[in-house]
Amino acid sequence: MQIGIFTDETALATTAAKHLIKILNNSENKVLGLATGSTPLPLYEQLRAANRAGKFTLRGVQGFALDEYVGIAADHPERYRNVLRAELVGDDKTGLREEDLHTPEGNAADPRQAAADYDAAIKAAGGIAIQILGIGADGHIGFNEPGTSLTSRTHVDVLTEQTRRDNARFFENDMDKVPSQCITQGLGTIMEAKYIMLIATGENKATAVRELVEGGISARWQASMLQMHPNALILVDEAAASELQLAVFYRERWNHNL
Ligand code: F6R
Repeated sequence: MQIGIFTDETALATTAAKHLIKILNNSENKVLGLATGSTPLPLYEQLRAANRAGKFTLRGVQGFALDEYVGIAADHPERYRNVLRAELVGDDKTGLREEDLHTPEGNAADPRQAAADYDAAIKAAGGIAIQILGIGADGHIGFNEPGTSLTSRTHVDVLTEQTRRDNARFFENDMDKVPSQCITQGLGTIMEAKYIMLIATGENKATAVRELVEGGISARWQASMLQMHPNALILVDEAAASELQLAVFYRERWNHNL
């Protein structure tokens, strides 16, 4: 696990974009795992800028979302498919093609079957080359909430009250409007990505980041499972790093540029 600590958001997003572009360019398997939420937005802006400048394109890349709400209207702007479409799809964005954007079918008649099909589709695409992740204040990645099996596959699950409260900002500040169920890649699915890049910003992520990096591996803090991943890059700002006990060492190791 490599930990990069940044003083400003732009430097963090620039480094994230640089790593993502390098890994995808060097990977035979052009499959990108996409997160939604606020945290990756500056990274997506960097990818749009790189596409505008003719330096990089997601054209030809297969994008797989981490998760999707169950039972959200197809045209709802917060449906993750719509969020990712608005951020990434089209030559005026990152070059990603609509048909190459894959999201779990949250409105399927049988969401459990849709989850199993989604897991199989990731495998059929050859697996994810690099998975972008955010982290919830309760340590969730994807929507794997505390207590989920650390080897789970893509599955239907329930959001905690805290996650619904956190996400209410996207739903007119009304947590009752936040869907209570989702389809999410499981920890077992996420762990199969060749590279992981988790980004966390803000003080409300500090405890989750501490548990992710320095806590014991436990289902209570789902992200702690990433300690077992051979290629996990954790990019955080000062606020999210504020509870790390070994921050001085992580900075020193980062400066060695391994
Ligand atoms: C989003 C996702 C979630 C978010 C997490 C943090 O696809 O799977 O795990 O990454 O809830 O959300 P933000 O970035 O909005 O704080």
